[in-house]
Amino acid sequence: MSSPLFKRKTLDDILGEARKPEHQLKRVLGPVSLTALGIGAIIGAGIFATTGTAAAGDSLRPGAGPALILSYFLTAVACGFCALCYAELASMIPISGSAYTYAYATLGELIAWVIGWDLILEYAVGNVAVAVSWSGYFQDLLHGFGVELPRWLTTNYNTAMSSPDILAAAPHLFGMPIFINLPAVFIVAAITVLLVVGIKESANFNSVIVAIKLAVVIGFVVVGVKYVRPEHWHPFMPNGMHGVLTGASLVFFAYIGFDAVSTTAEEARNPQRDMPIGMITSLIICTVLYVAVTAVLTGIVPYKQLGTAEPLTTALRLINLNWASGIVAFGAVIAMTAVLLVFQMGQPRIFFSMSRDGLLPKKFAHVHPRFRTPHVTTIITGVGVASFAAFVDINSAVEFTNIGTLFAFILVSAGVIVLRRIDPERPRPFRCPWVPVVPILSIICCLILMCYLPWITWLRFIGWFLIGIVIYFLYGRINSKLRSNNVTVSAEGD
Ligand code: ALA
Repeated sequence: MSSPLFKRKTLDDILGEARKPEHQLKRVLGPVSLTALGIGAIIGAGIFATTGTAAAGDSLRPGAGPALILSYFLTAVACGFCALCYAELASMIPISGSAYTYAYATLGELIAWVIGWDLILEYAVGNVAVAVSWSGYFQDLLHGFGVELPRWLTTNYNTAMSSPDILAAAPHLFGMPIFINLPAVFIVAAITVLLVVGIKESANFNSVIVAIKLAVVIGFVVVGVKYVRPEHWHPFMPNGMHGVLTGASLVFFAYIGFDAVSTTAEEARNPQRDMPIGMITSLIICTVLYVAVTAVLTGIVPYKQLGTAEPLTTALRLINLNWASGIVAFGAVIAMTAVLLVFQMGQPRIFFSMSRDGLLPKKFAHVHPRFRTPHVTTIITGVGVASFAAFVDINSAVEFTNIGTLFAFILVSAGVIVLRRIDPERPRPFRCPWVPVVPILSIICCLILMCYLPWITWLRFIGWFLIGIVIYFLYGRINSKLRSNNVTVSAEGD
């Protein structure tokens, strides 16, 4: 590891920087708020949207059928291993940069860059998927009030291109049909404006949102369970383990967000104890809810009828519970607005840290003189997310997010093993059990889920990765503050 590409920030530097009074954040979050934050970031488009395709399958993917229950359970186990690794690093390095910072301390600058670049897939591309799903449920809600938007204003590229009706109805400009997913663009634009002018996401606000999410999800289970017909669970596994694991690789999206708890480490009252509690408890609560929702969903209608972008409301409508369907659509819109807010806020923070380290232009760390928000990165994120949300279909965005996030989880798990070797004496308030077994299991589980993603997603991921490497060599490597020796470096094992 003597190459300058693998220079590491020392943990003492990282922790020292955060201890400077001008960088101190208010430590107000306890275990309950942290768990609520986790649930706030976790429950969103995954359960409300991807569940449909994952159960029913489509022309590209075999469906899991009712065995989606198993997909959710297996994915939770994989995320559990990752959460234990995240918890060790978050309690040991309670710094808001999360995986990017851990990698800078453990695996060196190049890998830190790769993770930072990769996290764009988790946060920004993830939000593309959530915005598209938000649009679907929003239209469902409007439908309940008798309002229908023209299809050319609510469609994505793939759907439009395969529907002559939509193309014929769309207005044309210079002979080209115009179509766009307008509600998705609208919600991203609205959230970007809110974040630029500065919204204080208080723990109270989050608690209200979390209460709504839990009420909708639990309400769905309680109302739906009376309509379950066990014969719908046969055959349980129509496409065998292949269907189950393909489903798992898609619904992994539903669990993304537990790791976001680690970004609040500097705001936690007792990060050493509460980081692991927040991450693992939110993961357990969501797993129980997801398994229950999936069991009810596949029990009330035949799984083949669930292949829509709004499977929960579809199922309720199919059993004539239109009132419940309206409530779920409303809850889903609120739930996903909250996820959009958390992720749209997280992405600029990561750009911000990378810019502070010199890996991205200085402009990215500018703070608005009046609003005191990172407006440059917030606007860049908003424009990027809205542009893709206007045309992309949800499954492509979900799979692209999943592959990027799984890769980041692999690097974090490897980081635990590396840090135990190079810095064994440092206090670890939370120790991941059975190292290296648990991190290795985490890496293997993530690799298995990655293998079940379609080849087109792999191609996109490799392309994204290569673009990132080129940018690093053209910009980050030259401008890195660590390399210009402004910060103490540790190029060899410390
Ligand atoms: N887990 C989050 C969601 O499902 C990203 O929307």
